[in-house]
Amino acid sequence: MTLPPKPPSRPENVSLRQYLKLFRADILSAQPARLYRAWMAEFRTPFFRSYLCNDPQLVDLVLKKRPDDFPKSNRIREGLAPLLGNSVFLTNGETWKRQRRIIDPAFEGGRLRDTFPAMWAAGQACVARLRAQADGTPIEIEAETSHAAADVIFRTLFSIPIEHAVAGAVFSEFRAHQRAQPLLNLAALLPMPKWLPRFHSKNTKRTAAKIRALITQLTEARAAAIAAGHAPDDLATKIMTTPDPETGAIFDTDEMVDQVAIFFLAGHETSASALAWALYLMATHPEWQARAAAEAEANLTGENQTFSTLNKLKLTRAIFRETLRLYPPVPMMVREATCPEEFRERRVKAGAQVVISPWHLHRHERLWDAPDAFDPARFETENGKACLREAYIPFSTGARVCPGAGFAMAEGPLILAMILQAFEITAVAERPAVPVAHLTVRAKDGIWLRLTPREAP
Ligand code: HEM
Repeated sequence: MTLPPKPPSRPENVSLRQYLKLFRADILSAQPARLYRAWMAEFRTPFFRSYLCNDPQLVDLVLKKRPDDFPKSNRIREGLAPLLGNSVFLTNGETWKRQRRIIDPAFEGGRLRDTFPAMWAAGQACVARLRAQADGTPIEIEAETSHAAADVIFRTLFSIPIEHAVAGAVFSEFRAHQRAQPLLNLAALLPMPKWLPRFHSKNTKRTAAKIRALITQLTEARAAAIAAGHAPDDLATKIMTTPDPETGAIFDTDEMVDQVAIFFLAGHETSASALAWALYLMATHPEWQARAAAEAEANLTGENQTFSTLNKLKLTRAIFRETLRLYPPVPMMVREATCPEEFRERRVKAGAQVVISPWHLHRHERLWDAPDAFDPARFETENGKACLREAYIPFSTGARVCPGAGFAMAEGPLILAMILQAFEITAVAERPAVPVAHLTVRAKDGIWLRLTPREAP
């Protein structure tokens, strides 16, 4: 059995200088292999210490039991603030709690159901774009899944497709921004002293300002439509009209712009990464692809599809879930200890960085059976069920769990099924995908696949 691609690990002993160099190139291959077996690893540097925690009890402590004592590290803030301002992704404490009280209701069950027609339309548009290229020549699929995921966000948030002038401009400015600054702020994880100033390049600031200006246009137009009583009933309207149940206040335009920026960023980069890897795994596991295509054909044919269609895509959901295990789009999360702690009989000082790594936890050799194999059926086994509870956190867990988790678990399997119903997918032997961590887990030189239309049965 060929295993899905995994980055090589670095040698055990390297100097700090070598580590920094490797780290800058790619966080995943800069780590030693022992992290796939260790319950905890301490990194000592001249400036600070960080602790990578794989012990499920420690993960539970940091993310679920005492999240207030392990807030988001300020180092994360520094890199992302020009684009994301005071968005829920970056705030801590009372501000964060208030923002979640307003945002969370928009992603609850009933509301999620209402987003189905927009997701379906985005899926159809994606299939149409792919059909125009599906002649068996290699296609770089990450670009396509990014396009599709951005389309889903604009359709569900603002009721506009990606072809809308402002939506399209946000999407293309965003790519420029990523080129100017890889968005996962490496400084957050890098062992650098806090006093070292970190500059944003002029380019980063300029592209961030452009994106924010475009989003402000959309948000102001929506505020006016709400005031005039003719706003569409979508996620933006829901969030902008939901008062904080504790204070009665609603988001002002600036704060809404911050939130839209993070919905766009967190909502499209992650889903695009997961969908691209799922398609790659289908190409490299044709037996699973055939089964998923048959499931799609049996359930997606015919008009008037509704949210309940998703319940029928059981196999596709299992495939998507297994993809998120092997390629968690957010590979690592950083928190900061605010008070002295004892972790596995080791003293952890206040200010230490605590790293939770879905990447390592999901492939932990002492937790998972066949950790590096692709097996969507594993979640039906005792081991798979236990690990799902204890060692599976693609959306994080606890109070700061991804508010878009339900949304992503609807969008991902749906669009995957729509693509597999339409096309047979094969890998391009000369271009294997090599995972690397940018903002999300991507492939070093893209994910290349051949698509050919399936014969109508
Ligand atoms: C496969 C898709 C997705 C994955 C794997 C994912 C994963 C995550 C993870 C791991 C976090 C926690 C990060 C941390 O604490 O450092 C997070 C936070 C967040 N995600 Fe997602 N996400 C996905 C899709 C979405 C979507 C579709 C949306 C919105 C439309 C969204 C909005 C957010 C927001 C706003 C936060 C910040 C929450 C907070 O800090 O309180 N995500 N996501």
